[in-house]
Amino acid sequence: MTVPNTVPHRTSMTNAHDEKIPATMKALLTTGDGRFALKDVAIPILKEDEILVRVVAIAVNHVDWKYLALHSRVKGTCMGWDFAGTICQVPPNCPNRKLGEHVAGLASTGRGAFAEYVAIPGDLTIQLPPTVSFEDAAGLGTACISACQCLYQELNIPMPGAYSTPHYAQSILIWSGASSVGQYAIQLAKLSGYKVISTSAPANHDFVKSLGADVVFDHSDSQSARQIFHSTEGTLVKAVDCWSQGMSPNQVSLSFSRQGGEIATLLPYESRTPGVKAYSVAANSIYGKDTSFPFVTVGSTNHLQNGKAYCKLISTLITQNKLKFVPAKVYPGGLLGVAAGIEDMRLGKVHAQKITCRIAETSQSNRA
Ligand SMILES: NC(=O)c1ccc[n+]([C@@H]2O[C@H](COP(=O)([O-])OP(=O)(O)OC[C@H]3O[C@@H](n4cnc5c(N)ncnc54)[C@H](OP(=O)(O)O)[C@@H]3O)[C@@H](O)[C@H]2O)c1
Repeated sequence: MTVPNTVPHRTSMTNAHDEKIPATMKALLTTGDGRFALKDVAIPILKEDEILVRVVAIAVNHVDWKYLALHSRVKGTCMGWDFAGTICQVPPNCPNRKLGEHVAGLASTGRGAFAEYVAIPGDLTIQLPPTVSFEDAAGLGTACISACQCLYQELNIPMPGAYSTPHYAQSILIWSGASSVGQYAIQLAKLSGYKVISTSAPANHDFVKSLGADVVFDHSDSQSARQIFHSTEGTLVKAVDCWSQGMSPNQVSLSFSRQGGEIATLLPYESRTPGVKAYSVAANSIYGKDTSFPFVTVGSTNHLQNGKAYCKLISTLITQNKLKFVPAKVYPGGLLGVAAGIEDMRLGKVHAQKITCRIAETSQSNRA
């Protein structure tokens, strides 16, 4: 893993927009005791295909607290995956990204997003129109990219625009539609022409319908799987399980046709139900490299190419105003607000929202 404070030191510089890029930045680094702290570290030196982004807002994911729990003894790793910001350095061999453009993305493990600057391959970023707020866009990376992986990579449904008319009158189940991944999966499946069946707490049924779900059931009701089976007349064969824990993969399996079906899951799951195949995704597999976290994945150039295609697709849909963002919930304190955000996620206190922090608030809080 590359650690920002071990990369060669660089001096401060000014880019072609007269923006000063300092030699060091503030970042949240793991401290080797299951926690993390705000540190001053060197700004990452760019690899060949990377751009440098001045981070404006970051978003918190479950993977952040899981990383701390599973790598409690690792010291000096820069935390965080999701960010949005402005491009402040572009190498000559990265022609399709421009200085000053707004982008969002999913940082690679160890080259973390919880920092004032992040280095990332240019074509693995999502271009944003200037009208989009950084707080809204910060939560796109992990959730929207993993929704694409589930739908297009694992379930092979056509990407929006692949057909001029809706695909089939087929149904797809998006289990836990109010989750961050679920909100994007519903909208993307709808844009691909599918009838969307979803589940959520009853309080979120209208919200989930407002994203495009045709029918919504209660995820905590043990009868929901049977009701989904009947409402789809036993024809359901595709589902994304956006919770993937406890009983949810079993409930999804029970919703399927008697012949079975395919589930894309966000956590590893081995199906024991005859006819039901399960495939799990890892958002950071878009880097095309072997990973051991959040679980073991073998590097694949297909996943890398898919990652680039998904970033392009998400950029297009946002520019066309076809995707609604997961509502942002801003926690105060910039990088110093991340700890409260991670704890609230770990405790399951976050519903149908994405916790976001504004980087600029870090220095104000740090001085106070
Ligand atoms: N593999 C990957 O790359 C990847 C990527 C993203 C996420 N994940 C994993 O996927 C899971 C969800 O992540 P997320 O960020 O989308 O979550 P999230 O936004 O925090 O999801 C919160 C929602 O989950 C729903 N929920 C809570 N308990 C539930 C249950 N027992 N059954 C069904 N739904 C339940 C709630 O819906 P209601 O409010 O309607 O009750 C809540 O609004 C996490 O385990 C995360 O680590 C993995």
